[in-house]
Amino acid sequence: MRVLGIESSCDETGVAIYDTERGLLGHRLHSQIDLHAAYGGVVPELASRDHIRRLPLLLAEVLEAIGMAVTDIEGIAYTAGPGLAGALLVGSSVAEALGVALGVPALPVHHLEGHLLSPLLSATPPAFPFVALLVSGGHTQLMHVAGVGDYALLGETVDDAAGEAFDKTAKLIGLPYPGGPALARLALSGTPGRFKLPRPMLHSKDFDFSFSGLKTAVLTTAGAEGFGETDKADLAAEFQAAAVEVLVAKSMAALRHTGLRQLVVAGGVGANLALRAALDEAAARRRAKVFYPEMELCTDNGAMIAFAGALRFMAGERGGEGGGKFAVRPRWSLMDIAAPRPPAV
Ligand code: KG4
Ligand code: ZN
Repeated sequence: MRVLGIESSCDETGVAIYDTERGLLGHRLHSQIDLHAAYGGVVPELASRDHIRRLPLLLAEVLEAIGMAVTDIEGIAYTAGPGLAGALLVGSSVAEALGVALGVPALPVHHLEGHLLSPLLSATPPAFPFVALLVSGGHTQLMHVAGVGDYALLGETVDDAAGEAFDKTAKLIGLPYPGGPALARLALSGTPGRFKLPRPMLHSKDFDFSFSGLKTAVLTTAGAEGFGETDKADLAAEFQAAAVEVLVAKSMAALRHTGLRQLVVAGGVGANLALRAALDEAAARRRAKVFYPEMELCTDNGAMIAFAGALRFMAGERGGEGGGKFAVRPRWSLMDIAAPRPPAV
């Protein structure tokens, strides 16, 4: 089955075709970074308008690149949430309309499920069950994943998401949007430990996180007298070290708790090289293995949505009949689509 995937939940327009027999045939991505840069963050109305402009072009482009006609599409998967309402509506309208026009089913997909399953698209995929660390701009969760749709929440952030903390910290020290990658780059030339930031909830004995205190500590440090331009790299390095230390410690605790040896990392912060190196090292010590999506599929993309949709189509799902159409869910917990089963311990 050839599935078209459409992602438009935030500031990236993604389109992909996944074939359940041949794998990912092609994908295209348009990032709105340039569009929002002047505002220091995503402007929802501009995001929606740009998705409208880009989606048809990207679809034509990806079809041409793989030599496929639009009528070869046998199913459509689109991000129905969580995300920006207007942006989500663009993807859902295109998907549902195309579904009607082609006479094929259109399936709403949960954005985080897309991230969660994206490492299965890599050359060396993990096998179920595994522990997943979901670290994006809006979410930070540790999950026990036993199969498609079989998710149990182990812990999550009680305030800011990890990506949000990277972005806010970057903004505080004057880095341009999008802050996460810029902060990571600056951290390369800094030395952690010169400034001392807290490791929130490191010893809380659960799998929850907190990042807002870290951000406040950055604000205090950067606002102190004598803090200058040359100190920024050291503060960025210390912030990254603090965030990474907590993410690694909790992930290892989750592996210990579940007795599993596979950790899957998904979401934009999973592109962070310092996080990857620290996770790899800590996991190796426990004889566990860490799985990441291909670098280009770490942040938002259409491939993960096409893939998650394809798996659900294969499981027999066919999308909302009638009432579900265009029903995007800007706020949507992954637990709403998960089987209520406690994690195996
Ligand atoms: O998964 P994603 O593309 O979008 C959401 O679903 O939120 O994640 C975006 C987040 C942003 O907060 C961005 O700053 C962060 O991922 N991010 C990074 C890096 N690349 C992206 N954070 C730290 N280091 C990076 N290299
Ligand atoms: Zn995302």
